Amino acid sequence: MEAAKLLKSLEKEDFRILMAIEIGMKRSEYVTINNIKFYSRYKMEETLFRLNKVHKFDLIIRNTSKYEIAYNLNSKAYDLLALHTLVKKNVISQLGPLIGKGKESDVYSCMDDNGKIYALKFYRMGRTSFRNIKMYRDIIGDRGHLSWLYVNRLAARKEFEALTKIFKLKLNTPKPIAYNRHVIVMSYLRGKELVYYKQIKKPLKIFRRIIKQIKIIYQKAHMIHGDLGEFNIVLSERGNILIIDWLQWVPSDHPNANTLLERDIINICHFFQKKFNIESNVNEIITSFYK
Ligand SMILES: Nc1ncnc2c1ncn2[C@@H]1O[C@H](COP(=O)(O)OP(=O)(O)OP(=O)(O)O)[C@@H](O)[C@H]1O
Ligand SMILES: [Mg+2]
Repeated sequence: MEAAKLLKSLEKEDFRILMAIEIGMKRSEYVTINNIKFYSRYKMEETLFRLNKVHKFDLIIRNTSKYEIAYNLNSKAYDLLALHTLVKKNVISQLGPLIGKGKESDVYSCMDDNGKIYALKFYRMGRTSFRNIKMYRDIIGDRGHLSWLYVNRLAARKEFEALTKIFKLKLNTPKPIAYNRHVIVMSYLRGKELVYYKQIKKPLKIFRRIIKQIKIIYQKAHMIHGDLGEFNIVLSERGNILIIDWLQWVPSDHPNANTLLERDIINICHFFQKKFNIESNVNEIITSFYK
């Protein structure tokens, strides 16, 4: 990953300049040199030197269309800031390979000082364009200023909170380790998504385990996954599962709760029926959730 390679090339002053731009971006899309100087509390000379340097590393975007030159961060810089913080806090020490590319995220493996491996999810909503504006609006609420930086930060926080809530139930969901900016660190299960298995051992057992878990999550944590299916369940060779991708969760008192819950259940039932010939009574399963 590009940002990770730069971690060692930058000095703390460079990070401070990037963070000054980050602060300024809360108020406007581009941040003027004077404001960057103000937020970093550096002298003009140092400010300009650092801006030049991070610009050469292709971390900031220069806007010369206004009277005053201004800059903002690109996503590489944002990745770098998050990684830098996670490394400094000793959460992780080394980035591994890309393990998954979702619709709106990149997931990497990473290692801590003890060699323990985690999954690192980088939110990348609005990477190309804001495809699903309504969803971002839901996340953003009334805040107006639609910046990718902010949206991805909120998304990471939302998923991290969901993982924290469910983790208390001690089920097969990722253990939340830490989050920073648009990145979450969670436990990793080596395997692949259910959808990519041609056959699996004991499909009935796995089917029942999934249904049982989403029922416990619904009845005890009052949460609904909202995007459950064969793409969001990782299965390991040894038959362990991990129910991932909790960004779209809703509470059980959400206006569309029943529809979403039932869609989750139906997705699982249909998938197991079609692929592994597991017959189940969908209505009976749904009814059992409401008891
Ligand atoms: N904790 C984990 N352990 C192992 N693999 C994971 C983990 N989290 C994610 N992955 C891998 O990364 C892929 C993408 O992750 P995820 O489903 O969370 O992102 P996404 O589909 O982009 O999510 P979103 O719908 O929120 O944009 C998964 O399909 C899976 O292969
Ligand atoms: Mg997914």
